[in-house]
Amino acid sequence: MRVACMDLLCAARRSIARVEPSAGQGPEKEHAVSLELDVNGQRVAVDVDPTTPLLWVLREALHLTGTKYGCGAAQCGACTVHLDGQAVRSCVYPVAAAAGKRVTTIEGLASDAKNPLVEAWIEVDVPQCGYCQSGQIMSASVLLAETSKPTDAQIDACMGGNVCRCATYVRIRQAIHRAAELGARREVR
Ligand code: FES
Ligand code: FES
Repeated sequence: MRVACMDLLCAARRSIARVEPSAGQGPEKEHAVSLELDVNGQRVAVDVDPTTPLLWVLREALHLTGTKYGCGAAQCGACTVHLDGQAVRSCVYPVAAAAGKRVTTIEGLASDAKNPLVEAWIEVDVPQCGYCQSGQIMSASVLLAETSKPTDAQIDACMGGNVCRCATYVRIRQAIHRAAELGARREVR
C-alpha cells in the first residue's frame, strides 16, 4: 500500500498541459470540442467529444490512472471521483457535464498526506489487489464529509455501491472508523 500511495502522490504532482485523447480512445476527431476542466485544482483544456465518459478523459488524456474501469455501467464504483464534492461514477458521466465543476480524483485526494483516510488506509493495510480501492476511498471521503462519525450501518449504506472482489469490506469499515477518529483528533488540536 505504501508503494501504491507513493505512486499516487507522484501522479498528483504531475503538471497538466493541454492534451488530446490518445489514438483509438473515445471521440471521432470531427466531433471534438475544446473543454476546460478543473481537475485536482488545476485548469486543463482538452479536445474531446463532449459525450466521452469523464473516466476516459482522466485516464487516457490526463494520465490520471488511479481512477479505475470496472463495469462501465455505474454498478461497481471503481471509477468514483468527486464533482464539487459529490461522488459520481465517471464511467457514465459525460465529460461536458464536468465543465465548470471541481473534479477531484484519487491523485488529488492522496496528495494531502494528512488526509485521515490516507493515513487510516495505510495503517489498517486495507487493500488486497488494490483495484477497487481508489473508488472505495473516494466514496468514503464523501461519507466522512457528510457524517463525521458514521455507524457501521451508515458505512454499509454509503459504501454498498463499491464492490470489492477481494472482499476487503471488514478492513474498509475499520479504516473508515479509524479515519473518523483521526479526523476528530485533528479538529480539536
Ligand atoms: S466502472 Fe464505473 S461504476 Fe463500475
Ligand atoms: S482489493 Fe481487490 S478488488 Fe478490492
